[in-house]
Amino acid sequence: MTRFSFDLHATDGAARTGTITTPRGDIRTPAFMPVGTAGTVKAMLPESVRATGADILLGNTYHLMLRPTAERIDRLGGLHKFMNWQRPILTDSGGFQVMSLAGLRKLTERGVTFKSHIDGSIHDLTPERSMEIQRLLDSDIVMCFDECPALPATDDEVAKSMRLSMRWAQRSKDAFGDRPGHALFGIQQGGVTEHLRAESAEALKSIGFDGYAVGGLAVGEGQEAMFGVLDYAPAMLPADRPRYLMGVGKPDDIVGAVKRGIDMMDCVLPSRSGRTGQAFTRHGVVNIKNARHADDPRPLDENCGCPACSSYSRAYLHHVFRAREMISGMLLTWHNLHYFQDIMAGMRDAIAAGAFDAWEAEFHAARAQGDI
Ligand code: GUN
Ligand code: ZN
Repeated sequence: MTRFSFDLHATDGAARTGTITTPRGDIRTPAFMPVGTAGTVKAMLPESVRATGADILLGNTYHLMLRPTAERIDRLGGLHKFMNWQRPILTDSGGFQVMSLAGLRKLTERGVTFKSHIDGSIHDLTPERSMEIQRLLDSDIVMCFDECPALPATDDEVAKSMRLSMRWAQRSKDAFGDRPGHALFGIQQGGVTEHLRAESAEALKSIGFDGYAVGGLAVGEGQEAMFGVLDYAPAMLPADRPRYLMGVGKPDDIVGAVKRGIDMMDCVLPSRSGRTGQAFTRHGVVNIKNARHADDPRPLDENCGCPACSSYSRAYLHHVFRAREMISGMLLTWHNLHYFQDIMAGMRDAIAAGAFDAWEAEFHAARAQGDI
């Protein structure tokens, strides 16, 4: 049976390219994971998501435990079969989503009790229950149950929260057990404070994980502070394991993270923005609802090979957005996911060729140019 493994092919500065091998298929890194929160990447068929170049999707413990429940998905054969995506799935552990979505939360050493944002019912999540849910979903990459404090916070608050997450990381590992072919990732916390990031990394390494995430970023600290942490945090984690930056980000965040040694990322941005009329292109953001596109026969991006750019004009995309037609979200989501995967492929090739700096300079130069 194929085991979970990570092979590094090349490095260029701190940037890395490699392959994560899993029984459900390979993941080329650096990898961008589209978000399929509730068992779907919204507005996309799974085969379309694959056509954009995605090797792996992200799913959410929090949403799926509430609806349709992990037990029901298990009875129906697991999340891959349920949503018709046979490639790898990484699931987040729930704590982060509880803090941003649920009402009436109570946090204790044991875990968190919260009120569902869907029907107000009361639920419990603990490291043990999160591991059970992610096992029922048959997730390929399971995330530790952690707590992500909102920033800004005092060092004391961040330290207390991080140490709780490290105790939960040990409980997650104990509850996960030995599951060949499945991986468990630890999550580093510690806010924007270097010695707390170091303490967290040491705690995780002594427990031992298949991969390591950098958590607790993109929570309002700004790009400069985030890059400040990424200047030292990845190097605190084992070089021979994948490093995953959670919840990031905009195209320039992703490029800056890869430059600093990150191998995996996820973000709702390309799919969510697609549904609100925002397209990411090589030259910058296009707001398709803007009236200046109404008569424009040009494609969104003349250099993009996605269906939205190959077969439709900006005028059409503008029209269907204004008319609230469903194809609007479908086409813009497809384009955005295609663009994000193009960036990842470009970076993988550049790192392999030892030309990341030149690739990055061109990425920034194209975005600085005139009218889009
Ligand atoms: N998504 C974005 N940031 C985080 C984090 O710190 N922890 C978890 N579990 N998920 C996240
Ligand atoms: Zn396109």
